[in-house]
Amino acid sequence: MKTIRIAIDGPAGAGKSTIAKLAAEKLNYTYVDTGAMYRAITYKSIKNGLDLSSEQEIVKLLEETSIELQPSENGQQVYLDGENVSEAIRTQDVTANVSQVAAHALVREDLVKRQMVLANTGGVIMDGRDIGTHVIPDAELKIFMSASADERARRRFVDNEKRGIHIEFEELKADIIRRDKFDSEREASPLVQAEDALYLDTTELSIEQVVDEIYMLAKAKE
Ligand code: C5P
Repeated sequence: MKTIRIAIDGPAGAGKSTIAKLAAEKLNYTYVDTGAMYRAITYKSIKNGLDLSSEQEIVKLLEETSIELQPSENGQQVYLDGENVSEAIRTQDVTANVSQVAAHALVREDLVKRQMVLANTGGVIMDGRDIGTHVIPDAELKIFMSASADERARRRFVDNEKRGIHIEFEELKADIIRRDKFDSEREASPLVQAEDALYLDTTELSIEQVVDEIYMLAKAKE
């Protein structure tokens, strides 16, 4: 039996990270949340008062930045220069600005290189926007996951409430639509379904159903 590399891409709030994390546990694979890496450099750039439209400034900062992803019981923990920023990178301020930072080609080049190293270990599920198209173009299994914007906003809303974060549904929906548009229309590796990716619409599916589906697809390839 061999382990495989699974690429999961899709728009904001499609459930990629929840599902990838659970599927990774079930398969005994490593889960890598690449969005957390874009969020981490966005957080640091804001903290350092950088102009987020300046690709050069951000890339320079990124070159001297360490971002580590560590699995833990409460999901993946994100360390930025040794500091745990797992919560700090989920604030509305970071969420509202991350797509602008992620649109810089040189920022992507740096992070994609780091992601390729992480993908090399095998037995990995990686989620993001360009995993099947750029990070692991030869992944054994590629999934493009989506759901209606209403359903995605609803899930974000429920998720936020559980974490004690109160943001209006309409605001979440508008943010999701704005980010999708930005991610899909950027020039540097836009969000697009890889030709050989399987399209999975999760609007009507439960988390368990999607996890089971991915588990079965992976087992068939191992
Ligand atoms: O997955 P998450 O919503 O945390 O990602 C935050 C943002 O990071 C996305 O909206 C997108 O702009 C960017 N991203 C990306 N490529 C990836 C992962 C995330 O451009 N592989």
